[in-house]
Amino acid sequence: MEKTVIELFAGVGGFRVGLNNISAFDPNSGLALENGDWNFVWANQWEPSTKIQHAYECYTTRFGTDSVSNLDINSENKSSIPDHTLLVGGFPCQDYSVARTKSNEKGIEGKKGVLFWDIAKTLEEKTTPFFLLENVDRLLKSPASQRGRDFGIMLRTLTDLGYDVEWRVVNASDYGRGQRRRRVFIFGWKNNSKYASEYKDVLSVDFLQTDSLFARSLPIQIEQNIQFSSIDLNVYDDTVEMTKGFKFNFENTGTVRSGFVTTFKSSPVRENPITMEEIIETVTDKTAYFLTLDQEKKFEYLKGSKKIPRTKPNGEVYFYSEGAMSQTDDLNLPGRTMLTSEGTVNRSSHLIIDPNTNKKRFITPIEAERLQDFPDDWTNTGMPLRRRYFMMGNALVTGIIKRIEPRLSDIIENE
Ligand SMILES: C[S@@+](CC[C@H](N)C(=O)[O-])C[C@H]1O[C@@H](n2cnc3c(N)ncnc32)[C@H](O)[C@@H]1O
Repeated sequence: MEKTVIELFAGVGGFRVGLNNISAFDPNSGLALENGDWNFVWANQWEPSTKIQHAYECYTTRFGTDSVSNLDINSENKSSIPDHTLLVGGFPCQDYSVARTKSNEKGIEGKKGVLFWDIAKTLEEKTTPFFLLENVDRLLKSPASQRGRDFGIMLRTLTDLGYDVEWRVVNASDYGRGQRRRRVFIFGWKNNSKYASEYKDVLSVDFLQTDSLFARSLPIQIEQNIQFSSIDLNVYDDTVEMTKGFKFNFENTGTVRSGFVTTFKSSPVRENPITMEEIIETVTDKTAYFLTLDQEKKFEYLKGSKKIPRTKPNGEVYFYSEGAMSQTDDLNLPGRTMLTSEGTVNRSSHLIIDPNTNKKRFITPIEAERLQDFPDDWTNTGMPLRRRYFMMGNALVTGIIKRIEPRLSDIIENE
């Protein structure tokens, strides 16, 4: 099959950077220098919370405006999306519960604005052969009150659309990257594909340890006395029934075929990570990144231990407490997980002791880009400084996609 791709929730193009092995852009035109042969036939990016569309502007600066849509994905006519063999996207973890529609007793619908339903609709309309998705690892456990319900509903929906699915939770620093960022990657293929017929036993340990896409790209070891769990999603009539009663403990590794799930806990075959020391640049701008005295005081409080009285909606007072964390990040370690608030006075922001001045400072936008394996200045497309950090907090470690790419390419070329 041709390697044609659509990128949903495209942000600043992390999947494309990874798949097409991009490490630079042309400084004159601003266009990315694509080294791979994945043909991106369509992308969609729309940020609901801001008028100015910084992510879309960055994406189109780097990749041109052809076939890049800036509409709410919900309003896209899915049947007009170009044909493709691979759908990719990083989407938010939301509430996947479904209910019967009032107008039609057989009809079922999920909550409005839940972006997974747009993915499912696209897969259905376009009979997409393969997909690769990324999400926070919390997706496997959500919601807290009904552990595993949302992921179960998602897997059942994909099963009903004719897909087999493999998932794996990956911490990027375990595979040599510079950030401790744990995300779940979800790979799906049509159950009538050549790939599906080549692997008869996708529910076996053997497949998940040696042959699967993630096993070949990101090797794992299996502990002795490994504990498997399995479940048959077909025992529920539909996702409405699952919404009412489904609970399951999805582990960090697993597959689904025809609604049968196998899952177990695996460990990575660890590689040495990139450290913060290898990522940091020499900072000459003394004002933008170094902390003021006031900011230093705020950080001492924010990163320190505390007990704060709070009031519940029913008026009851309780104490919210959190322990102390290190004031500055150890340069001998990979970075922590970057959030969209990176670079602001926030407990989770990285703070480093600048090796040249011995003073505390924020990380720079270029350092944030390096933590996600983007080319330097990728987001330097005219957006404010804060937004550059925000874009990186939303993005993914493209080095992980680069690792998955060769085997994914073989699978699709062989199809
Ligand atoms: C987790 S981020 C994905 C980032 C991307 N993987 C990257 O490398 O930059 C999710 C993206 O979905 C976009 N988004 C949120 N709601 C959307 C909607 N209704 N339609 C289209 N895009 C949406 C956000 O603006 C954000 O860029």
